[in-house]
Amino acid sequence: MRAAVVKTPGPAESLEIVDMPDPVPAQGELSIDVEFAGVGFVDTLFRAGVFALPTPFVPGIEVSGRVREVGAGVTGFAVGQPVGALLNDFGRGPRAGGYAEIAVAHASMAVPLPEGADLAGVAGVLVNGVTAWMALHDLARLGVDDDVLVLGASGGLGNTISRLAAVRPARRVIGVVGSEARRASAAEECTDVIVAADLAAAVDELTDGRGVDVVVDPVGGELRTRAFERLAPFGRLLVLGNASGQDPALSGDAVWHGTRQLIGLSLGTVAHLVPDQVQTAISAVVDLTHRGVLREPAPSVVPLEDVAGVHRALENRSAPPKTVLAVGR
Ligand SMILES: NC(=O)c1ccc[n+]([C@@H]2O[C@H](COP(=O)([O-])OP(=O)(O)OC[C@H]3O[C@@H](n4cnc5c(N)ncnc54)[C@H](OP(=O)(O)O)[C@@H]3O)[C@@H](O)[C@H]2O)c1
Repeated sequence: MRAAVVKTPGPAESLEIVDMPDPVPAQGELSIDVEFAGVGFVDTLFRAGVFALPTPFVPGIEVSGRVREVGAGVTGFAVGQPVGALLNDFGRGPRAGGYAEIAVAHASMAVPLPEGADLAGVAGVLVNGVTAWMALHDLARLGVDDDVLVLGASGGLGNTISRLAAVRPARRVIGVVGSEARRASAAEECTDVIVAADLAAAVDELTDGRGVDVVVDPVGGELRTRAFERLAPFGRLLVLGNASGQDPALSGDAVWHGTRQLIGLSLGTVAHLVPDQVQTAISAVVDLTHRGVLREPAPSVVPLEDVAGVHRALENRSAPPKTVLAVGR
């Protein structure tokens, strides 16, 4: 099969298109003829070696396509059936990644799709949708009176979080973007879009000085510090990522005296710890998408060969909210 492989972690150019042996599913797994593979910022961290993986490896943690082969003990899937899957088991080397014509998934991380499903859309929503669902539904327990501040609202996760928060629904969904130029990349479902430099004053104005009930933070850095200061009593700060590369210290006293909560969520971790909960979230996201409740715009689709350019765009903050690779033979 053809795949994009990282032999030595490094810059975007370390992604090489190569031919490699077709993987086969082990017990409890299924292999997938990949049609589309989602690309997210986290893939750049794997590629660069920030999160160390055994090399060589195939990046990519979300795909859609058709079942190619079903491993022993797997029920509920048939060869040729459309599926979406999370591929979160990088520990096994180059077999599991999504930037490849054939990927291998644990059956517990895959969902059957109806014929005619929008496969590009499914590949583009899995990681961000499941993360958003678990963050807002399972952890933040978002309520109808809550005001939500979404950092990194121009990015893939920030877009999906904003849309799902609006569906839940929250009272206000305030998207934070890095610059005026990025305003148009925030989700239409945001009730307000503000620029990061104006965060404190804008939140005070929008909430009459009360602050927000939930901050969703895939960015980190000084933006996290400033957002935390605008968290109302009983407010929840959800730490979902660190796109800025900076991990500021937060004051325990400020959590204590302010009666606030700090909550973390890593999809890669919970996929191992609570696969049933993750599977429920996958089904919920796919179902909401099919029913048109969660309306993700069509992702940008580029050929597998152009993957390095997609990584560069994510790193220089010029990427569209979501890109998927067209992989199918
Ligand atoms: N918890 C989980 O399980 C989970 C799941 C998915 C993703 N994530 C994490 O969430 C973060 C965002 O992922 P994503 O796929 O949404 O990425 P993305 O599409 O590239 O979005 C990241 C956003 O962060 C903002 N940003 C601020 N400072 C940045 C910097 N120095 N470099 C790059 N972006 C910066 C950018 O917005 P502006 O340019 O407008 O400032 C950008 O739109 C990543 O850290 C990823 O690892 C975590």
